[in-house]
Amino acid sequence: MPSLEIIKRRIPLQNRPLHPAPYRGIIITAGDNLRLKEMNLNIKRRLHNIMVTGGAGFIGVNFIRNLLSNRKFSGRIVNVDALTYAGNTMSLPDVPEKHEGRYFFLKADICDTERIYGIMKDFGIDTIINFAAQSHVDRSIINPSDFVGTNIFGTFSLLEAARKSWKPGRGYLFHQVSTDEVYGTLGSEGSFSEASPYSPRSPYSASKASADLLAKAYYHTYGLPVTISNSSNNYGPYQFPEKLVPLMINNMLERKPLPIYGDGKQVRDWIYVEDHVRGIWLILEKGIEGESYNIGGGIEHENIRLVHLLCRLVAEETGAVEKDLRELIIHVKDRPGHDRRYSMDCGKIIRELGWQRMYTLKKGLAKTVKWYIDNTPWVENARSGEYLRWVDENYGNR
Ligand code: NAD
Ligand code: DAU
Repeated sequence: MPSLEIIKRRIPLQNRPLHPAPYRGIIITAGDNLRLKEMNLNIKRRLHNIMVTGGAGFIGVNFIRNLLSNRKFSGRIVNVDALTYAGNTMSLPDVPEKHEGRYFFLKADICDTERIYGIMKDFGIDTIINFAAQSHVDRSIINPSDFVGTNIFGTFSLLEAARKSWKPGRGYLFHQVSTDEVYGTLGSEGSFSEASPYSPRSPYSASKASADLLAKAYYHTYGLPVTISNSSNNYGPYQFPEKLVPLMINNMLERKPLPIYGDGKQVRDWIYVEDHVRGIWLILEKGIEGESYNIGGGIEHENIRLVHLLCRLVAEETGAVEKDLRELIIHVKDRPGHDRRYSMDCGKIIRELGWQRMYTLKKGLAKTVKWYIDNTPWVENARSGEYLRWVDENYGNR
């Protein structure tokens, strides 16, 4: 890892921050889409020096890999991650060499505003994509304070650093990566749109909702260029094995019990991670400041049905007997306050930005199963130490 001084010298002058021009100071009401669109046509986003926070976590890693291979992007990525239990530099071992001069990793906490401000200055950061978060609902139930710290205070800290660094000028962007869980839970009918009221019900979703509201407040109050995306349940390579899909795949491979919370009839809207990160890129390119965009797979599945499908796919891939895998399913005590159903209306990003889902559930899950089978060293590494303590804490008393 080169020192910061060396990195600084490598950044050509034209990519250093320009003298800030004042924000135009225009306040626009959220419904005024036409004017916003006209305004946006005049905005040439820089997208030269992108700070990706939480870039060593599941979606951040997939975003970085995807963006560095996107021919439309020729800029640099600065990955800022505190390397919590969920962050893993083993997910990007090939990237620094393959993209020398375009990819940098810095271990830092997003709550450290001064440090973030310094990094923004050193690298001439013009775009922030905030993936960094405590992301697991079950952990938020057992230990909510980390969620308030990182998700709320951390986002506030980044917004402050951006407000201070970008004293304004156009072409900057702060993108907040959020979740469908901020909208709460649904009955058997209906879907969440961007106009649905926020009604979070877990410490995790409440902390994400608070972060979104802060980001929106910075847009309205200070004119900070902000966009937000609310995505549904992601799955795919590099997901930490505490989440449903990788947990089930890995337990099947080791013939361990498959713990289903409650009756297993909770419905989630599943999206392959690559479809999500392509949506974020479209927002960076063309998204309208002050707006939110839902990104969901439009594939609703009860948890139990999803696990049945996984049993089939793991059996096909490994030669195991599907029925034997199904017999590993056990129903355990439900998650407190468990949201029953999520469903996303993604009409806005489809209509306005031309986004399309590329993966069916079967195609995405088959690719994911294969990835976990082919990447046992990564899984072993992720499942050492802290993971074992978590499994004991979460499943021990169920
Ligand atoms: P993850 O838990 O896999 O990764 C989070 C990353 O953030 C880790 O690398 C971790 O080290 C880092 N991090 C945590 N606290 C930090 C701090 N204080 N400073 C710097 N880095 C810190 O999470 P993920 O699944 O990749 O989710 C990424 C984002 O997407 C989160 O904001 C999450 O709320 C959101 N999201 C996730 C999903 C999903 O299904 N996984 C769906 C919708 C939205
Ligand atoms: O909806 C988007 C959200 O999806 C993201 O914002 C979160 O960061 C992400 O963790 C995810 O939250 P969920 O709680 O929906 O995901 P999880 O994989 O933990 O659980 C999916 C469903 O499966 C949920 O209904 C709980 C259930 N479940 C989960 C685990 C880990 C089980 O039945 N058994 C389990 O062991």
